[in-house]
Amino acid sequence: MMGSRIGELLLLVCLLMALSGPLMGMRDRDDHHGDEGEEEKEVPFEKRFLLQRKQEVVRTDAGDVRVVRGFAYQVGVESPMHIGFINMEPSSLFLPQYMDSTLTIFVRKGEARIGWIHKAKLEEKEMKTGDLYVIPAGSTFYIANIGEGQRLRLICSIDNRENMGRKPFQSFFIGGGLNPTSIFAGFGPKTMATALNISIPELGEFMSRQVKGPIVYANVTKTKSLFNQNHGRRQEDGEEDESAATTTTSTWTWAWRKLLRRVTRSRSSNKTGKTVHFPDVYNLYKRKPDFENKYGSTMSLYDNEYSPLGIPNISVYLANLKAGAMLGPHHNPTAIEFGIVLVGSGSIEIVYPNGTTAMVATVGEDDVFWVPQYFPFCQIASRNGPFIFFGFTTASRDNKPQILVGEGSVFTTMNTDVMAMAFGVPTQEFDRVRKAQNGSVIFSSPGAAPADMDEGGEGAGIRRFGGI
Ligand SMILES: *[C@@H]1O[C@H](CO)[C@@H](O)[C@H](O)[C@H]1NC(C)=O
Ligand SMILES: *[C@@H]1O[C@H](CO)[C@@H](O)[C@H](O)[C@H]1NC(C)=O
Ligand SMILES: *[C@@H]1O[C@H](CO)[C@@H](O)[C@H](O)[C@H]1NC(C)=O
Ligand SMILES: *[C@@H]1O[C@H](CO)[C@@H](O)[C@H](O)[C@H]1NC(C)=O
Ligand SMILES: *[C@@H]1O[C@H](CO)[C@@H](O)[C@H](O)[C@H]1NC(C)=O
Ligand SMILES: *[C@@H]1O[C@H](CO)[C@@H](O)[C@H](O)[C@H]1NC(C)=O
Repeated sequence: MMGSRIGELLLLVCLLMALSGPLMGMRDRDDHHGDEGEEEKEVPFEKRFLLQRKQEVVRTDAGDVRVVRGFAYQVGVESPMHIGFINMEPSSLFLPQYMDSTLTIFVRKGEARIGWIHKAKLEEKEMKTGDLYVIPAGSTFYIANIGEGQRLRLICSIDNRENMGRKPFQSFFIGGGLNPTSIFAGFGPKTMATALNISIPELGEFMSRQVKGPIVYANVTKTKSLFNQNHGRRQEDGEEDESAATTTTSTWTWAWRKLLRRVTRSRSSNKTGKTVHFPDVYNLYKRKPDFENKYGSTMSLYDNEYSPLGIPNISVYLANLKAGAMLGPHHNPTAIEFGIVLVGSGSIEIVYPNGTTAMVATVGEDDVFWVPQYFPFCQIASRNGPFIFFGFTTASRDNKPQILVGEGSVFTTMNTDVMAMAFGVPTQEFDRVRKAQNGSVIFSSPGAAPADMDEGGEGAGIRRFGGI
């Protein structure tokens, strides 16, 4: 009887919340929602490999999550990943949850603490700009913005190969209440009260507090954080000091910490725990480039150097082109590539197998592009500044991009006589062309570089037949 009354109460509050939901809560724009129409639209020729639909999946006062869904809607083939952008205001917390997708998180700007449960232990990592970390599907994690007065900006790949349905990903909130709904709300009150060993009124109170959505403002500071206190206490493995906890933090905060601890402890049989190996954070900006010359640098990171990347089976790369430089024509023999522009602007050219232009597009900060396996492509920095982009490829093993032009490339390494015959020119003539470019990989290309990157610029078109 008690249970059903609580249930009714919860239902009533839920209804109220649902009515006011759009003002404050999580917006879950599902497939049936508004922007369906866009799918029908013809993707313009010059933008075919740009991923433009940034779908807002979470928005609260304290932050938002936008997802660029992979290319399924453009080419009708399931995309191996989506790209997520997480923005969090200073002193905010992304509530504990697990997902049906592995996240590879890159800190674009700011400082974060990520806590997740790995081998039945709570592991907390502090991350700063340039850091990379992998949260496997199904692991419960939280993200806190601990940069004082700083916004936190994260970019992540959201693996699409293990997820459950048509949504880009599905969150299962551990901590929550009315918004987001904790997965615990789905159990009967009696079940849950018994499981937590609290009374049903206590449970009703406990499960109806959180109304602020998946990202909330919270007192998270770098030093002496509530999370670290939690960590310390957990290791003593004593009974929870509930009265102390309630006096220092809100009931709600205490409650989910307690939950997290319970989950952690109940699965943890190894009390020593010190020897459990946690994967480390990897800083991409501290790594030496694989290739570098005076026009720029590139690097790729595979799971042989950072084993967590083997979980989603992806690799990560970073390219830095100086103003006016070109990352020459190349292709990926074993991978689909996704790129996100971090700094500056430039143009991207992609070519179809039949030798026609697939895309010539100018891109700027935050734009997302993709390149199919085998398709030749190149990137060119605008003349007025560097062009830095970062991204993911679907190969965890060495996907050595095949360089098509320049010193040591396919073009210069292939048999000269055969190449001359192929182009139908005298060998000497081919040889002269072959030797004309003595640079490699990244070239100076003032002639090709777009001057100004106002949208719709046709930047690179002028050099279509100029280079070779
Ligand atoms: C449940 O809580 C009561 C006190 O509220 C305690 O005496 C009892 O040992 C607890 N049971 C379990 C299984 O934790
Ligand atoms: C946040 O936590 C710190 C340290 O625990 C404390 O000194 C401060 O008063 C707290 N601020 C708020 C607004 O609760
Ligand atoms: C705890 O883990 C360590 C290292 O993994 C192992 O050597 C030890 O036997 C474990 N202890 C128990 C009680 O499982
Ligand atoms: C990762 O790739 C390897 C080889 O390509 C494959 O054997 C393995 O099943 C893949 N793992 C996942 C989780 O997709
Ligand atoms: C080349 O291939 C593309 C994509 O398959 C196609 O749209 C285009 O019509 C082809 N062009 C020629 C000249 O065959
Ligand atoms: C390429 O050749 C030019 C002159 O022909 C020379 O100035 C330049 O240093 C060479 N570059 C490289 C990378 O060898």
